[in-house]
Amino acid sequence: MKIIKTRKSRLKEVDLENLGFGEIFSDHMLSMEYKEAKWGVSEIIPYGPIEINPAICSLHYAQIIFEGLKAFRGKNGSIYLFRPQKYHERMDQSSKRLCIPEVGLDVFMEGLKELITLDKEWVPRKRGYSLYIRPFIFATDDFLGVKVSDTYRFLIITGPVGAYYKEGINPVRLITPGEYVRASKGGLGAAKTPANYAATLLPAEEAQKKGFTQVLWLDGVERKYVEEVGTMNLFFLIGDELVTPPLEGTILPGVTRDSVIHLAKDWGIKISERRLSIDEAFTASRKGSLKEVFGSGTAAVISPVGEIHHEGKKIIVNSNKIGPLAQKLYDEITGIQYGEKPDKFGWRYTI
Ligand SMILES: Cc1ncc(COP(=O)(O)O)c(C=O)c1O
Repeated sequence: MKIIKTRKSRLKEVDLENLGFGEIFSDHMLSMEYKEAKWGVSEIIPYGPIEINPAICSLHYAQIIFEGLKAFRGKNGSIYLFRPQKYHERMDQSSKRLCIPEVGLDVFMEGLKELITLDKEWVPRKRGYSLYIRPFIFATDDFLGVKVSDTYRFLIITGPVGAYYKEGINPVRLITPGEYVRASKGGLGAAKTPANYAATLLPAEEAQKKGFTQVLWLDGVERKYVEEVGTMNLFFLIGDELVTPPLEGTILPGVTRDSVIHLAKDWGIKISERRLSIDEAFTASRKGSLKEVFGSGTAAVISPVGEIHHEGKKIIVNSNKIGPLAQKLYDEITGIQYGEKPDKFGWRYTI
């Protein structure tokens, strides 16, 4: 791997004790190009602008995929990745759906290791903080016809990020999207690709104007079954059954979702991957059996849902407070991520 180091680090200009999300980028990035039917050699170069032609097809037709994972610093100074192989697996699945050539696991892992080792001082020391890692691949053919590109670029950029919720874990307020749908079976819903996020901008903005945190997506056909939130999968604790929508091609197969399912099974909780209608959730709330609702995702780990609004009606979950199961999952997952709890499932990868 070729490494070109920056001549002037920007680290001194950054306050690693006081960070938001996605605003600051580390000194270096990984870059690799695909042409003549193969990936070239990856290189690490200083983070900065890249030159593209105005006609590159991904700008016009969105043949792009991305990922989002994190590196954590333990108390002993070690740096850990959380389930990087699982994120790579999803990157491959997204690539297949978007006709993008896959990047091998060894190249991905080697690239992450080199890049994070070089920028290790960018991994914050404060508990709750981490280094966000954004791998992405975009098509680079300079051509305006709609077709699969022959050339691509793979980049990994990273940046230090703060705790998702500055004032601790506050329950979020969700609203169903009315006439809008995010994805339908056979579409792009299960791929981590920009088009899915573009589709959610307007509904999310309208929801935020009304005071909601995010949209709670329902299925695209009957607009009846719960799917996921903007950047999180969803779990409902009804009685003693933990329910999460199944992976039927319309929602993102979350790595945190998978981790919650593993932990819940290990703790003897009855976990069901099944369809759950919004009416079932409202009925359970009326009957008093809806105990907790929470989202799962890389950014916030576990995020309690305090309120759900649907067609002019609302439910309040667990008196708008985080529930015991959500708290236990948050503590367990972050404990594993920061190297404080035993890693029973082999999820931690030491850099
Ligand atoms: C649409 C969507 N759903 C769910 C998730 C949660 O997935 P993960 O736990 O892998 O971060 C994300 C975030 O990546 C997302 O963007």
